[in-house]
Amino acid sequence: MKLEGLTAIVTGASSGIGAGVASGLARAGASVVVHYHSGRERAEEVVKSIEADGGAAMSFPGDVSDEAAIAKLFDAARERFGRIDVVVANSGIQKDAPIRELTLEDWKRVIDVNLTGQFLVCREAVRRFCAQEQRGRSRGKIICMSSVHEIIPWAGHINYAASKGGVMLMMKSLAQEVAKERIRVNGIAPGAIATPINEDAWRDPEARKKLLALIPYGRVGEPEDVAACAVWLASDESDYVTGTTLVVDGGMTLYPGFEDNG
Ligand code: BGC
Repeated sequence: MKLEGLTAIVTGASSGIGAGVASGLARAGASVVVHYHSGRERAEEVVKSIEADGGAAMSFPGDVSDEAAIAKLFDAARERFGRIDVVVANSGIQKDAPIRELTLEDWKRVIDVNLTGQFLVCREAVRRFCAQEQRGRSRGKIICMSSVHEIIPWAGHINYAASKGGVMLMMKSLAQEVAKERIRVNGIAPGAIATPINEDAWRDPEARKKLLALIPYGRVGEPEDVAACAVWLASDESDYVTGTTLVVDGGMTLYPGFEDNG
């Protein structure tokens, strides 16, 4: 198994892409910390299903925008599994509104969770990776969960798009900064993946039809599509890859409107 002997922390792993990534990393042999904010029961379910498959996991709560909570998360991971090798900064929220109605509170909360939260998780990861003995080809791997909206502008979602654009350049700048420490930092930019965050866009058949018009590959993504990429980025197979965003979107970023625009 590709990730045998490694420990991974996945933030926001009680549902959606985070839960899928946590399960995928565990299937590849990693011990996994399933971090959650408010979904304790769902996080416990993720842990149970990993354990039922023969894997090792624990859940741990906290707010990613709280420095002290992040330190506690990493302490708990280390206490239980001895070390930390892979960190997936995944927690993310949407609070959508056209600009006239977008409150400062909703602007700040999205930036706090999606961007500041990733900064805090990345900072702690770098500190911890440097304080432990290297195992494998690198000192550690960080994966920042971004979105196609690090590239595609999104009217009515400016707080979210701004946070993901920020994640992209934070990830690249950090990759440049810590490469000499042999820490790899990459991003994943999922397109429309069927999860609770975008349920409105895929559950209703009419909405789904509109969504599919934006996806050349002709299907909505699944958390497993993202998990497979996370496993690869977390493994030594991708050892020469750093500072890159892997776009996992069925072609959403390929300007599908131009397909028949002869
Ligand atoms: C958003 C989803 C959206 C997808 C494609 C994601 O980052 O969270 O709500 O469906 O991008 O637009």
